[in-house]
Amino acid sequence: MKILVYGAGVLGSYLAHVLVRGGNDVTVLARGKRAEELKRDGIVIRHYFQLKTTSDRVKVSQTLSPEESYDLIFVVMKFTDFPAVLPVLAENRSSNIVLVGNNTEAHQMQSYIKEHSRTDKNIAFGFQLSGGIREKDRMVAVRAGGQMVLGSLDGVVPFLPLLDKAFKHTKYKITVQENMDAWLKNHVIPIVPLNFAAFAFKGNFKKLARDKQTLQQIIGAMDEGFKVLEALGYPLIPAAQAKWIRQHRTLVYWFLKVYHRLPVAQKIDGTVKELEGLNLAFQGWKQRANVSTPNWDGLEKNFRMQAESGS
Ligand SMILES: NC(=O)c1ccc[n+]([C@@H]2O[C@H](COP(=O)([O-])OP(=O)(O)OC[C@H]3O[C@@H](n4cnc5c(N)ncnc54)[C@H](OP(=O)(O)O)[C@@H]3O)[C@@H](O)[C@H]2O)c1
Repeated sequence: MKILVYGAGVLGSYLAHVLVRGGNDVTVLARGKRAEELKRDGIVIRHYFQLKTTSDRVKVSQTLSPEESYDLIFVVMKFTDFPAVLPVLAENRSSNIVLVGNNTEAHQMQSYIKEHSRTDKNIAFGFQLSGGIREKDRMVAVRAGGQMVLGSLDGVVPFLPLLDKAFKHTKYKITVQENMDAWLKNHVIPIVPLNFAAFAFKGNFKKLARDKQTLQQIIGAMDEGFKVLEALGYPLIPAAQAKWIRQHRTLVYWFLKVYHRLPVAQKIDGTVKELEGLNLAFQGWKQRANVSTPNWDGLEKNFRMQAESGS
């Protein structure tokens, strides 16, 4: 199957590797230095838990012209990078697109593509349940289950059979989520407080693990975030996520304490720009919900103090 992976960072590279190994005809769209790296070395991935390094040759492209056609396009980039590529996707004649990653503006992005496209588009949204970081000349992939949660905004994903075919000869699982917009909004709730704290502590997770007040603030902020979503009428999905955070605070506290002491915590990537973008969306929801969020605000304040002292 002819597949384009648009965005060859940490998670895009991992997805392209899986799809190549699954026997697909994969092109990776990358830019600048990353495109040169891929042409020279292929996709080089250090698999953190599996203790192995793989290298895969792929076709590398630096542009997507309107006439090129792919059976599937996966766009894998930071939430704040999506707007720049929406016009390119709209102009291209391929029909089946999956936007993969954090996303608080799924409806707006879908509307933009559909309204600006001359051909019919089927759009789905995905989130890869893995992590990783970029090292000098390779990606380090932290893959636990190797799967993507995926869904459309209209309940059905019309190109699901194509997705099944693309992943048929891989161990990668696609889990279809009926309310993907709500799932993505729920995902922002733990991510933003955790990243506020990570940046406030300049990535010194061992120090963070010892800071009881911040760990409790993270849990409090998550609870506040879920209250905001509830006030706006969004379902809490996956239900277990909010339930655990609310009903097992002590266990979650110890989990966070242990997690931040593990070397793997250093291998999960985040950027200030995406964090700011996701938080901006949250601030809009909070205003509409009229729910107070003292823990969230406290974490944000510490993050900003650190950002200002570092600049
Ligand atoms: N990495 C993790 O640990 C992790 C864990 C969970 C969730 N996520 C989420 O997964 C999503 C993807 O994350 P990631 O870590 O894979 O991001 P990333 O490493 O920053 O990769 C994004 C890639 O897209 C490329 N890109 C951006 N704009 C582009 C454009 N206009 N044209 C062409 N290429 C462009 C970037 O190019 P350059 O190389 O030139 O910058 C980069 O290679 C994000 O929402 C992230 O929050 C990541």
